[in-house]
Amino acid sequence: MDGMMSDPFREDVLKGLSNPQKSLPSRWLYDARGSELFDDITELPEYYPTRTELKILRERAPEMAEAIGPEAVIVEYGAGSLLKVRILLDALENPAAFVPVDISASHLEAAADELKADYPGLAIKPIASDFMASNLGEGLPEAKGRRAGFFPGSTVGNLSDAEILRFLSNARADLGDGACFIVGLDQPKSPDVLVPAYDDAQGVTAAFNKNLLTRINRELGGDFDVDSFEHEARWNADESRIEMHLKSLKPQSVTIAGERFDFEAGETIHTENSRKIALDLFAQMAEKAGWRLTRRWMDEDELFAVLMLEAV
Ligand code: TRP
Repeated sequence: MDGMMSDPFREDVLKGLSNPQKSLPSRWLYDARGSELFDDITELPEYYPTRTELKILRERAPEMAEAIGPEAVIVEYGAGSLLKVRILLDALENPAAFVPVDISASHLEAAADELKADYPGLAIKPIASDFMASNLGEGLPEAKGRRAGFFPGSTVGNLSDAEILRFLSNARADLGDGACFIVGLDQPKSPDVLVPAYDDAQGVTAAFNKNLLTRINRELGGDFDVDSFEHEARWNADESRIEMHLKSLKPQSVTIAGERFDFEAGETIHTENSRKIALDLFAQMAEKAGWRLTRRWMDEDELFAVLMLEAV
């Protein structure tokens, strides 16, 4: 059936599990349950990025708002539960419109409805889409002020070099001349801090990662024995990234959509990277995509940076 053939989730799963290093694209982590679990991750004691970025935003939003200017259209990529943007919206002078883009349609709708109730004067136009999709530009509202992208959470660190270039170039095209872009960027630091942030004591991150197997079972008729896989967070120093894996605890085979996949004991599925990109390296990447790094705001321990890019 045509519908079956063109299911992108099914295609990604069958392809990813056929690689020598089995892998699954991380965007599939965010179904309704995954989005809920991710919100729980952001409140964990070990997960410093959200708390640190929120503190930077609370303290420096007036400077960010001043730099953005009045009557702006704010476009948030991978918007999630829309907590952070409230801080920015509260500081902005007369924001004209807000466009949250998120892959989890149900989560997005609920979050956008809550926001509408609290900001009755603001035009809110959610787009249910993978933030990597291009051509959001045509759907963006017109306004007197400039367009400002907002990409907090260090989600940029979940992308490869090629994806960062593509994403920033698309955003540059969508947001247009005169645009600016506020980007959150987690900073390189000791694995003693990083590993627990991605493998917490309560097991919430483990549940989030393993939910992907439950989703495959449910949506693609898979037969993963979820309990025979274990969450693993590894620091890869050469690549300056935390890698998330799901490790098979025994030799086993799994059938998904009629295809069989064999696992050795200890073999993993690589589900996500969280890169910790130094500021100068990120500035070079942004430059290639038509953006100049003009401001940076950091916490006193320099754990996390919020950056201002301006269209060149
Ligand atoms: N953008 C988040 C980060 O890299 C995403 C994230 C946090 C994540 N914890 C995770 C992704 C665990 C997969 C698994 O920090």
